Amino acid sequence: MGKIVVADNAGFCFGVKRAVDAVYELAVKKDGRNIYTLGELIHNENVTNELASLGVRTLKDPEELNDSEDCIVVIRSHGIPKDVLDKLSSAKCEIVDLTCPFVKRIHDLVAEASSDNIIIIGKEDHPEVVGIKGWAGSRSVYIINSIEEAESLPEMDSAVLVAQTTSTLSLWDSIINVLRPRISELKEYNTICDTTLKRQHEAEYLAKNSDVVIVIGGKHSSNTEKLYSLCKNYCARTFHIDNIEELSIEKIANDDIISLIAGASTPNRIIMEVKNRMSDVLEQGTREVINEENASVAGEVAEAVNEVEEKVEAVEETAKEEQAEVAEAADNTVAEADASAADSPENEEDFASQLEKTFSYIRRGQLVTGTIIQISDSEICVNINYKSDGIIKKENLSAKGDENPMEMFSVGDTIEAEVVSLNDGEGNVELSRKSIESKLKWKNLVDNLEEDKIYTVKVDKVVKGGVVSKLEGYEAFIPASQMSLKYVEDLSEFVGQDIDVTILDVDKKQRRFVLSRKAVLQKEADEQEKKLYESFTKGDKVTGKIKRLTNFGAFVDIGGVDGLLHITDISWVKVKSPQDVLKTGDEIEVLILNVDPDKKRISLGLKQLSPKPWDLAKEKYPVGSIVEGKVVRILPFGAFVSLEPTIDGLVHVSQITNRRLEKVEEELRVGDVVKAKVMGVDPSKKRITLSMRALIPEEKKETKEETEDNENFKFEIPPVDSATSTLADFFPKAESESETEE
Ligand code: F3S
Repeated sequence: MGKIVVADNAGFCFGVKRAVDAVYELAVKKDGRNIYTLGELIHNENVTNELASLGVRTLKDPEELNDSEDCIVVIRSHGIPKDVLDKLSSAKCEIVDLTCPFVKRIHDLVAEASSDNIIIIGKEDHPEVVGIKGWAGSRSVYIINSIEEAESLPEMDSAVLVAQTTSTLSLWDSIINVLRPRISELKEYNTICDTTLKRQHEAEYLAKNSDVVIVIGGKHSSNTEKLYSLCKNYCARTFHIDNIEELSIEKIANDDIISLIAGASTPNRIIMEVKNRMSDVLEQGTREVINEENASVAGEVAEAVNEVEEKVEAVEETAKEEQAEVAEAADNTVAEADASAADSPENEEDFASQLEKTFSYIRRGQLVTGTIIQISDSEICVNINYKSDGIIKKENLSAKGDENPMEMFSVGDTIEAEVVSLNDGEGNVELSRKSIESKLKWKNLVDNLEEDKIYTVKVDKVVKGGVVSKLEGYEAFIPASQMSLKYVEDLSEFVGQDIDVTILDVDKKQRRFVLSRKAVLQKEADEQEKKLYESFTKGDKVTGKIKRLTNFGAFVDIGGVDGLLHITDISWVKVKSPQDVLKTGDEIEVLILNVDPDKKRISLGLKQLSPKPWDLAKEKYPVGSIVEGKVVRILPFGAFVSLEPTIDGLVHVSQITNRRLEKVEEELRVGDVVKAKVMGVDPSKKRITLSMRALIPEEKKETKEETEDNENFKFEIPPVDSATSTLADFFPKAESESETEE
């Protein structure tokens, strides 16, 4: 069976593509003004007709233009002479100058030439050559297109030599061989476009290795014509067709190796049409196994194709590496490249590389945004600011794969898509929106993840270590430990159930989630608990059950939450251990001392529900009453007698008996139980003064003076021996209580 090879450099070149895209864009915008192109935008009837249907008219002559009309005039990639440009500039119209920067470069070279003689290699009547000539000013211009014409040039000492961008390298080489010896100051500028050279080189190679070469392109296209004659030299069965209608199937055998080559003004669509038609022919005809001769040619062609593919891959790789470097340059406009070229006209290579940098670089997997320039019911063609257009096939347009592109989009719409391949085999960039849909969906989902957002998912099945589910269509795993607040023995009870979850982790590489139901339950429980804490108010009296005793207090359940009854808040009397006074399970009434819902803390008090002992001291121990207590401490100035656990009274040494004592111990020992009369009570200072002597009958008193002493007794705290004692030593219980109150 035969084989079809499409040239890698087939179809629109950079300059043509730039012009065609721009005009389609203008036509789609339809701002109400007429759009004219000066001459056919490109030498391709199909494109011209299509643009005409969009309202773009072609002016054969600039004179046809009405100077007063507010319109848009497009200068095609061939460029125009300077005087025509000047005339247009003075008219009312808007000029859209789409002269290819490579051509513009020649205009500049000619306009700034240091010689009075300009030699142009090219076709005299070709618009590009006419345009170049128009920038030479008053210099003498010689247009030659053969060795003979070069030889017949008049004598001259100096000249500037340029070439039409689509000239052939062999013609250039031949002509300079003629001119160099003849012109002493010959400034040569090889202005043949690099794209043209590559195209010619590839065409030659394919023609040498094919049975049939089909050159597709307009009959008036100079570069297509050159490709045709070049291929004809190497392949006798070379045919030039404008479009598919001119394809003569009879000329092709179904075991032919066929190369498809196209000029710079041939749209990819036409190349594809021809290719598809040829494929059909080969498939429908009698299939024969490739004979040995053809097999070897097929192999070489395949090798050539492989070479091209390898080159493409290498370019992709380089593009990746250089992308950062080139990105800045890629942002520059072509106009900037022009300006840059004008600055250094001598350096052609620099200019070409600078211009090259104005192309966008793309790579497989990259997201690109473009403008839709064509829609059919099977695909969308997108201008992605790349040297080739992007094609999104219907099946790659959406996840459904069967939607009609024409119903989804319109020409002029902006569309985002992913690069699937830089060459779909037909010279276009293969794009997919289907893949981007899922990428965008994932990106959107991940970008908008909220930390605490709750999702409802259905549990699909139990797997090792947990259950699996789907979140927004993506795989999700819930570990067993995240299924509940408590351990769950059998996870199968959740299968088929809708459960609320939050996202614990995102596996961006695998596009998977790890979820947690426990986090949701915990959050709910925390919120409920917080509300409960908030329902308690400082100063409330509540009843609770002692849940747990510790060394520092008791935890009391006061209705769903535990409060802490600290050891110092159990009693006014110093408590050594909560176990001494409280029992787990006992119900007690407590006072809320403090509530902190955020920290989930409630402080409780028990002693605060009973009055302070000293507050009752005046009532319980009125002056003149007789009290009984145990001597708990003896100091040089008297003895302390405990009246109750938190209240001690002081019997001054002079009030122990009716005789003068040198030492308290002469009459009292710690532990003695004594009776005394209350002589004074001062609750604010926590002091009760006592007198044992006041209880001794009158007749036993020894002297009148002593009786008077007794009657005039007034307690004064003796000076404290700072070396041995502190005030706390004198009133141990009072101080202890004071600490408790704090
Ligand atoms: Fe420009 Fe070269 Fe095309 S000169 S128009 S890019 S063939």
